[in-house]
Amino acid sequence: MHIPVLLKETIAALDPQPGCVYIDGTLGQAGHASAVMRLAGESGRLLGIDRDGEALVRAKNNLLRDQIPGTHTLVHGAHGDIGTIAQANGFEQVDAILLDLGVSSDQLDTPERGFSFRQDGPLDMRMRNDAGETAADLVARLSVPEMTTLFKELGEEKRAYAIAKAIDRERQKAPFTRTLQLADCVAKAVGTAHTKGRHPATRVFQALRMAVNDEMGDLRRALEAGIRLLKPGGIMAILTFESLTDRVVKQTFKAHCGQEVSLQQGGSEWRGILPKTELILKKAVCGQPEELESNPRARSAKLRAVRRVED
Ligand SMILES: C[S@@+](CC[C@H](N)C(=O)[O-])C[C@H]1O[C@@H](n2cnc3c(N)ncnc32)[C@H](O)[C@@H]1O
Repeated sequence: MHIPVLLKETIAALDPQPGCVYIDGTLGQAGHASAVMRLAGESGRLLGIDRDGEALVRAKNNLLRDQIPGTHTLVHGAHGDIGTIAQANGFEQVDAILLDLGVSSDQLDTPERGFSFRQDGPLDMRMRNDAGETAADLVARLSVPEMTTLFKELGEEKRAYAIAKAIDRERQKAPFTRTLQLADCVAKAVGTAHTKGRHPATRVFQALRMAVNDEMGDLRRALEAGIRLLKPGGIMAILTFESLTDRVVKQTFKAHCGQEVSLQQGGSEWRGILPKTELILKKAVCGQPEELESNPRARSAKLRAVRRVED
């Protein structure tokens, strides 16, 4: 079962009021969405988006089972398209938006989805598992320099070249089709000396998952379009699990918060990217010790949030 991460802190940041118009761009099992909608009440409206059709079915069942109030519109799609999805479904000028990025426990714990380096499964990693290139396709197609760049940029993997070379040697004998086949190859190439207790293939799997699902592209598009969908006073909260995505969120929020610059002729001028926002949380919020103990997924979680203000 997926336990919503930083639930209390996320709800405090989003501060949903009765009648809240809310977009959840990573609906998952509707854990966060249910908590928001309980506060939004019968007049609240939810637009839940998920790339994973199986997640949407579970979310729908959970919303029904728990008699979550309000009207619910669930859409199979990517949050990178949040602008067009919102417009098509009559969600403009919204009160709150949440993105809880990354993989759900359901996806991770289902070997057939191919996200796990601990359990064997097909090397897939597609969130939308009925279309597009799989991780196996990517590992077969990319050259050694391309793989090196991918592992460095999206995995922040220091041994990227050695890993890419090892993969290249192995794939000449047999194509990579299974998760453990790749995890073992990476482990042999890098050893366990510098992985600080993490599985040596963690970063390579992260890079492949991000590339297969265009996670950085989707995130950038969702942040920009999402901020534009907020009404003045509306709030966007983002939960990240890797430094790479957290950096993009932090920089985007900083650019929209802008700054007052003193002018030579006196006075000052606001410089930044419109629409204008202000930080609700001055710093990223992390999990409290009790949560970190009971929910391992919360260990790397960071929550950031902004409020849209009048331009
Ligand atoms: C961490 S889970 C969300 C869990 C949810 N907050 C809950 O409490 O149940 C992330 C979900 O986002 C979905 N997802 C990941 N990237 C996505 C994207 N670009 N667009 C839409 N959904 C995405 C995944 O399929 C997964 O179901």
